[in-house]
Amino acid sequence: MAKNTSTEKPWAGRFTEPTQAFVEAFTASVGFDHRLYRHDIAGSLAHARMLAHIGVLNSAECEKIVGGLQAIEHAIDQGKFEWSIALEDVHMNIEARLIERIGEVGKKLHTGRSRNDQVATDMRLYLRDEIDAVLAEMRRLQGALLDVAEREAETIMPGYTHLQVAQPVTFGHHLLAWFEMLARDAARLRECRVRVNVMPLGSAALAGTSYPIDRNYTAQLLGFDAPCENSLDAVSDRDFIIEFVSAAALLMTHLSRCSEELVLWSSTQFGFVDLGDAFCTGSSIMPQKKNPDVPELVRGKAGRVNGHLVALLTLMKAQPLAYNKDNQEDKEPLFDTVDTVKGSLHVYADMIPALRVNRAAMLHAARSGFSTATDLADYLVRKGVAFRDAHEVVGKAVRHCIDCGRTLEQLTLEELRAHSPVIGQDVFAVLTVEGSVAARDHVGGTAPAQVRAALKRARARLG
Ligand code: ARG
Repeated sequence: MAKNTSTEKPWAGRFTEPTQAFVEAFTASVGFDHRLYRHDIAGSLAHARMLAHIGVLNSAECEKIVGGLQAIEHAIDQGKFEWSIALEDVHMNIEARLIERIGEVGKKLHTGRSRNDQVATDMRLYLRDEIDAVLAEMRRLQGALLDVAEREAETIMPGYTHLQVAQPVTFGHHLLAWFEMLARDAARLRECRVRVNVMPLGSAALAGTSYPIDRNYTAQLLGFDAPCENSLDAVSDRDFIIEFVSAAALLMTHLSRCSEELVLWSSTQFGFVDLGDAFCTGSSIMPQKKNPDVPELVRGKAGRVNGHLVALLTLMKAQPLAYNKDNQEDKEPLFDTVDTVKGSLHVYADMIPALRVNRAAMLHAARSGFSTATDLADYLVRKGVAFRDAHEVVGKAVRHCIDCGRTLEQLTLEELRAHSPVIGQDVFAVLTVEGSVAARDHVGGTAPAQVRAALKRARARLG
């Protein structure tokens, strides 16, 4: 009977020399893949039950295996499990411990299975749970954005293009733009989840197995929608991970853009928002400083997720079918992506409700930069002037204002009429920032009434 010490490899039969010590450490993944233990055990429990269902295990054997695996899970939960590098990965550590605990019958668990379909299954089970956790944090953040947007539906701020003042917008409208970016990210994650939720188990090493397995039974136990169609594909491709990390990279890109705005807005020059002391840190040398570390860090973390995406694409691109050890390298980028995305969403969902808005500073800035110049041009068009001519007339009026240091609103009716005789007293209503935003009163526009309507739709979509 083969001895099963913690250092003997399952493949010892074929080998005459032990693994070199550094090779053992170099090839081991248990240092990071122990994170998969719950999903690994869930997969093993379902596999054992399926083996009993088809009569490969008798019910006493199955119960012993199930009891042993549950006890191991409990021990790991309690931090009472010693992981061994000699046992390479999470799968072999748990299997060796099972045999240690329940004896010979433990050796039957791996019947009709390989670590290749096992690890692919674990990764899908893990990612499915993490997508749900990410979506829950996203929802919390989106809800926070809607609450602040509702409060700030009438708050006027400058809208920018090229970071130059363009036209006035409402702050609520701006926050709803962030909401839309996240809504698409969430949709991408939900679509990705559909492709994650298929089961490799039963593919064994690459070609399937000679046992009369019932893959639909196992899939049902594990909550998978179906078994993977092709065994070679199922054990080898990690496109579902790449797809997730790609959606995560876009999500982080969006959070990074929001961060850039928060950093700008909380600067002394803008002064639009105060992030709150709880989300800032000070300087060790400059006593006056209050730095927007949280948005800065999220902006920086977008870089590492982009890096993980490139790493995973490169990992996959030259692999022949079927499983290759290269795929062990899928774990750290995925785990770090999950941690980064969850952490960034978490801190954002806490930070947004605490945002203090300086409405006066926003309004003051909105009134600068001739932000209602387009409204004046539109006014002239309504009075019968062609848009191109109107554009030129207003351009000259702006030039005039720059020369005399005034705003369009501050010009007298006479001065305005000197630029175009069609201008009447009613022009002053269109030159105010309030009039400007109120005029953009259509679906997708910035008028407070439209922001409220969009909010209602957004709340319904969020469910
Ligand atoms: N630790 C391995 C991985 O993450 C598990 C699968 C190993 N399979 C093998 N044939 N060596 O990919």
